[in-house]
Amino acid sequence: MARETVLILDFGSQYTQLIARRVRELGVFSEIVPGTTPLAQIRSHRPSALILSGSPASGYRAQAPMPDPGIYTLGKPLLGICYGFQATVQLTGGRVAKAPRAEYGTATFVRDAPSPLFLGVPKRFRAWMSHGDEVQALGQGWTRVAHTANCAFAAARHATQPFHLIQFHPEVVHSPMGRQVLRNFLFRIARLKGGWSMRHFVRTAVADIRARVGDGLVLCGLSGGVDSSVVATLCHRAVGRRLVCVLVDHGLLREGEALEVARELGEKRGLDLRVVDARERFLAKLAGVTDPEQKRRIIGAEFIAVFEEEAKTFGPVEWLAQGTLYPDVIESASAGWGSQVIKTHHNVGGLPERMRLKLIEPLRLLFKDEVRELGRELGLPDHLVDRHPFPGPGLAVRTLGAVNAQDLAILRQADAIFIAELRRAKWYHRTWQAFAVLLPVSTVGVKGDERSYEKVIALRAVDSSDGMTADWTRLPASLLARAASRIANEVRGVNRVVYDCTSKPPATIEWE
Ligand code: XMP
Repeated sequence: MARETVLILDFGSQYTQLIARRVRELGVFSEIVPGTTPLAQIRSHRPSALILSGSPASGYRAQAPMPDPGIYTLGKPLLGICYGFQATVQLTGGRVAKAPRAEYGTATFVRDAPSPLFLGVPKRFRAWMSHGDEVQALGQGWTRVAHTANCAFAAARHATQPFHLIQFHPEVVHSPMGRQVLRNFLFRIARLKGGWSMRHFVRTAVADIRARVGDGLVLCGLSGGVDSSVVATLCHRAVGRRLVCVLVDHGLLREGEALEVARELGEKRGLDLRVVDARERFLAKLAGVTDPEQKRRIIGAEFIAVFEEEAKTFGPVEWLAQGTLYPDVIESASAGWGSQVIKTHHNVGGLPERMRLKLIEPLRLLFKDEVRELGRELGLPDHLVDRHPFPGPGLAVRTLGAVNAQDLAILRQADAIFIAELRRAKWYHRTWQAFAVLLPVSTVGVKGDERSYEKVIALRAVDSSDGMTADWTRLPASLLARAASRIANEVRGVNRVVYDCTSKPPATIEWE
C-alpha cells in the first residue's frame, strides 16, 4: 500500500488530537507537528495532505504562531480549520480582525457556492464554532463558500489550488456533518486511498525499529501495564533477543501482576525478561514516609537506581524503548502553541540522559485505545490489554500514610476481590478505572460475637476519558454489596468498606 500521511499542523487547539483521531478513524494515517514547523521539515514527512488546526491565539497579533508560508507552494491538498483558516487568509492577502461578537457553540452554516468539501452535506447545516476573531476579506484567488448569521466568511476555497478553509470544527461531535466534510477532504479532494489499520502500523513500526537499532541492544522497562507490554512485544518482533526487558518488582504492583507479565511475555513469547525482586529495598526506603509527594519521589529515584544497576549487567546498551503515548508528546493548548515537549516518563525520568541511551518510542503517535488495539493485533491477551490505568507509584499511593508490607498485603487482597467482582458483574469495562484504597484509620466492628477494631477499605470507580476529569461510577448496589461483604469477611484486618462518591474535581482519582 502506498504510504499516505496527513500532516496536521498544530497551533495549540484543544481539539488537535481529535483531528488526528478522526483522520485515522477514516483509515488514513495522520501525524501532528508544531504549526510553525519549517517547510523543509514538513517536506521530510512526505505528507499527502495538510490540515491546519485551530488555536487559542489571534492571528493578527505579532506573536501569533504562523505556518511556514512555503506550505502554500507545495501544491498539497490543504484544509484550514478555524485558526488554520484565519492564518491562511492572512498569509494569502486577506484580512482577519477581532469579531464584533465571539461565537462559541453551534451555528447554522449556509452554503453560498458549491464545493467538493461539502458533497453530501445539506445546504444549511449546524456545526461547532469557537472563535473570537473573524475573516473580513479573502485574498485574490479565494471564493467564499459559506456564511453564518455572525460570520460573513465561514468557509472558503481556492480557485485553482486544492485548498479549503472552514471556520467550524469538523472534528468535534457537535458538528454532525464533520465526518462527511473530513471524508470529502481525504477521499475526494486529496484523493487518498485510505485503508490504513493497525496491521500497517505494526509493519511500519517493526521496519522502523529495525532500521534505527541496527545491531544495537535495546532495553525496556516493563511495568505490568498495557503500554510497556505493548512496546516490549513490538520491539521483540523487530529485534528479537536483542531486546532485554527489566521488570522492577517494587512490591507495589497489583495482585499477581509481576508473575502474569513474566508468564505472558517471558515464558509464552520468549522475551528476555529479567524480574528484579526489589520489594525489600523499596519498603526500606519508604518506611515511615507519609507525605504523598515524597513517596513518589522516593519510588521514582529508587526505580531508576535499580533499573540502572540491572542494566549495567547487560554490557553496552544503546537504546531504551519507552511507552510514551501521544498525549504525553503533544503539549496541551494552555502550555504553549504547537511546540512539542516530551513528558518524561515517570518511571525512568532522567535515565536516558544518565545512561546515555537513545530513545525508541514506537507508541508516541498513538492514543491509549489505539495502543490497546495494537496490543490485540500483536496477539496479547485481552486481560492484559484491557487493564485499567495504574499509577507509576502503584499501591504506595493507595495505602494512605506510611507504607508497610502488611498493609500492602491487605490492600492487594481487597483490590483483587473488588476487581474480580467487577469482572463477574461485567462492569470492569464499563468503568474507566477502579481500585481499593486502604485508609489509615481503624473503626469498631463486630465479627462473630466479638468486638473488632480494624481498618477501613474505600472502593473507588470512576468514569473518565483521559483522567483529567472524572465522575464516580454509579455501580449497582448489588455489586457494591457483594464486594463489600466479601472484603469485610475475607480480608483479615478489615471490618468496614465504604464507596467514594466524589467527582474530580474537586477530588482527584487517586487518594494521594
Ligand atoms: P489523579 O489522582 O491525579 O489521577 O486524579 C489521574 C490519573 O493518573 C494516574 N496517576 C498517576 N500515574 N504516576 C502515574 O503514572 C503517578 O504518580 C500518578 N498519579 C495518578 C491515576 O491512576 C489516574 O489514572
